[in-house]
Amino acid sequence: MKVALVTGITGQDGSYLTELLLAKGYHVHGLIRRASNFNTQRIDHLLFEGAHEPARNLTLHYGDLTDGTGMRRVLDLVKPDEIYNLAAQSHVRVSFDHPEYTADVIGTGFLRLLEAARDHMATSKAEIRIYQAGTSEMFGSAAPPQSERTPFHPRSPYAVSKVAAHWYGVNYREAYGMFVANGILFNHESPRRGETFVTRKVTRAVGRIAVGLQERLALGNLDAKRDWGFAGDFVEAMWRMLQQDRPGDFVIATGESNSVADLLDVAFDVIGENWRRYVVTIPRYERPAEVEHLRGDATKAREELGWRHSLSFEELIRKMVDHDLKLARRERALQDAGFDISRG
Ligand code: NAP
Ligand code: GDD
Repeated sequence: MKVALVTGITGQDGSYLTELLLAKGYHVHGLIRRASNFNTQRIDHLLFEGAHEPARNLTLHYGDLTDGTGMRRVLDLVKPDEIYNLAAQSHVRVSFDHPEYTADVIGTGFLRLLEAARDHMATSKAEIRIYQAGTSEMFGSAAPPQSERTPFHPRSPYAVSKVAAHWYGVNYREAYGMFVANGILFNHESPRRGETFVTRKVTRAVGRIAVGLQERLALGNLDAKRDWGFAGDFVEAMWRMLQQDRPGDFVIATGESNSVADLLDVAFDVIGENWRRYVVTIPRYERPAEVEHLRGDATKAREELGWRHSLSFEELIRKMVDHDLKLARRERALQDAGFDISRG
């Protein structure tokens, strides 16, 4: 049985990847942060078998990318064949407010993980294959379509930190012959997407507007264009990268880009409303330096990994709105029954 260690297992991608790895027969170990409340909502459905029996093939460990000692301990205990490094302060706008912390988790955090893996391999003589969650944000202001050959021009502390992590990966490949694959993933979304990212912020608002729980939606730049795909498709590419004979860097994207305004068109169309009646734009949600246009060229992934995306942009957004309409109807029913939904 193969053993995988997933950092960031409680995030959107962590939950889809864990489902995929469990289905393939892996024992999955996940690194989770200690929080003052439960933070495992996205993987709760995987933690138990039957009524109360803990899942045999899924084990969680407390840890943090800022704590190298703890990570070393987990690694020596788990002895993974594969590590998927998904943990990050992943919000671009927030990275302008907390640049040092962002760099510590994403850049230095990955370096800590690489060092822990290098030492573990030296003593155990076992090989560990490592996936690093790189991003299209690293391309920043480089013109589309962006591929593995496009030079990076990062535009935020988040993106600069991801570029650092990317090059640590390349360096450990060249210096120590380690198997490190850098994914360069374009935006991927789902009903599990965090509610502060623009797709989910919009689809949540559409659901709540439809049932009368919200009247306004405040956004930033409506002209920015992104290449939006489905997260469930993208985690498959991460796994495929670690099954290759040699490690490499791979762009994962749908090849289609749409603006935030296009996203609003599709999402509000599901409830038959015109978004212009509800949307206001405010400076608070703009970024000091914006990435205007991302559209990926995933030819290499198609040819070498045999990877394809399954959901189009419109299908994805409609799926998210359908999900969030159900959520909003539940909220509405609770409110009508006298529960204060703002306080749980
Ligand atoms: P996400 O939902 O924000 O999940 C991030 C995960 O990292 C969460 O499990 C979070 O834990 C954990 N984390 C944050 N800080 C940590 C720390 N200091 N130590 C340990 N864990 C920490 O992000 P995602 O969308 O799943 O993305 C996964 C990875 O892919 C990230 O590295 C992201 O930067 C990268 N990426 C994402 C996209 C995308 O479009 N989704 C595209 C390209 C690259 P909590 O649950 O406790 O907060
Ligand atoms: N979040 C947010 N909130 N974005 C807004 C808003 C708003 O109210 N209004 C407009 N936008 C614009 C942003 O300025 C950006 O151009 C675009 O919508 C997408 O923003 P996000 O959904 O926050 O995603 P992102 O592209 O900045 O970053 C995501 O994708 C990256 C891959 O390219 C994150 O998941 C990153 O972690 C990931 O690396």
